[in-house]
Amino acid sequence: MKNKLNNLTNKEWLKFQKSWFIHNPPPRKKGVLVHPAKFPETMAQEFIEFFTKEGETVLDPMAGTGSTLVAALRAGRNSYGIELNPKYAKIAGQIVEEERKVLGKRVEGLTSKVINGDAANALDLGPFDLAQGKLVTFDYVLTSPPYWDMLKTKGAETQKKRRDSAELDVHYSDNPNDLGNVDDYETFLEKLVGIYGRLKSSLRDKAYLTIIVKNVKKGGKIYPLAWDIARELGKTYTLKDEKLWLQDNQPLAPFGMGSAWVSNTFHHYCLQFRLEIEKK
Ligand SMILES: C[S@@+](CC[C@H](N)C(=O)[O-])C[C@H]1O[C@@H](n2cnc3c(N)ncnc32)[C@H](O)[C@@H]1O
Repeated sequence: MKNKLNNLTNKEWLKFQKSWFIHNPPPRKKGVLVHPAKFPETMAQEFIEFFTKEGETVLDPMAGTGSTLVAALRAGRNSYGIELNPKYAKIAGQIVEEERKVLGKRVEGLTSKVINGDAANALDLGPFDLAQGKLVTFDYVLTSPPYWDMLKTKGAETQKKRRDSAELDVHYSDNPNDLGNVDDYETFLEKLVGIYGRLKSSLRDKAYLTIIVKNVKKGGKIYPLAWDIARELGKTYTLKDEKLWLQDNQPLAPFGMGSAWVSNTFHHYCLQFRLEIEKK
């Protein structure tokens, strides 16, 4: 079989094709604990290794503390990340530098670049002009957005421990351009899908995008963020199968016990989209 997508063996390819996986995040490094919601580098690496070949280029337009960039380095790929909060962008830069030292010579020729900026402004340029006038086209996007303003919900169980710590952030920032600060759900969705949609001109034909997201529970109601992104962004890219990321090491809480159905939600959707330019 000629493998046009990645460098995996048939066996590795087949393993990734299952529509769900369990990945319990390993303990975080001290430097990135401050960020309220990161995904594990180990998991990001598996996606990058499936959706790209060695030496290709990955983008994360909301890079947080740089998990995608670290994973890309480990996988031998170039990477770019945009992050609005200067504190997280700085940590991402440091983490990437530390990782480069660990990996040494084998990553010398690779680019990893963190840009402190607003993804809403940076991504409608056509091929990216990021690295001293060099035009960059991306082969893959791996990202996870703010889950609307969920981090600001008072009852959010995961936030309790963080609130008691002076060092750990409970939400991303107070910047009005931070999508986690948009109050109205429909406005949030429109802005988010707009950012992802404008990436189109910076992607190569047949590039995949993976968006890791959850549906949001607020005030006793579900806002189907994952499904809404699937429907709306499916108008720009072709929506492909999802993969479900399951966590099975979380403590169960008795939400609604005895009176109402309220789940302990320990799954995320990893939504796959593909840019498929129609041939005339
Ligand atoms: C779910 S977190 C991403 C975490 C990242 N995947 C990681 O593992 O560290 C979402 C990130 O989006 C950033 N963000 C929010 N609005 C943004 C915008 N308009 N442009 C760029 N980044 C933004 C937040 O600061 C936050 O770090």
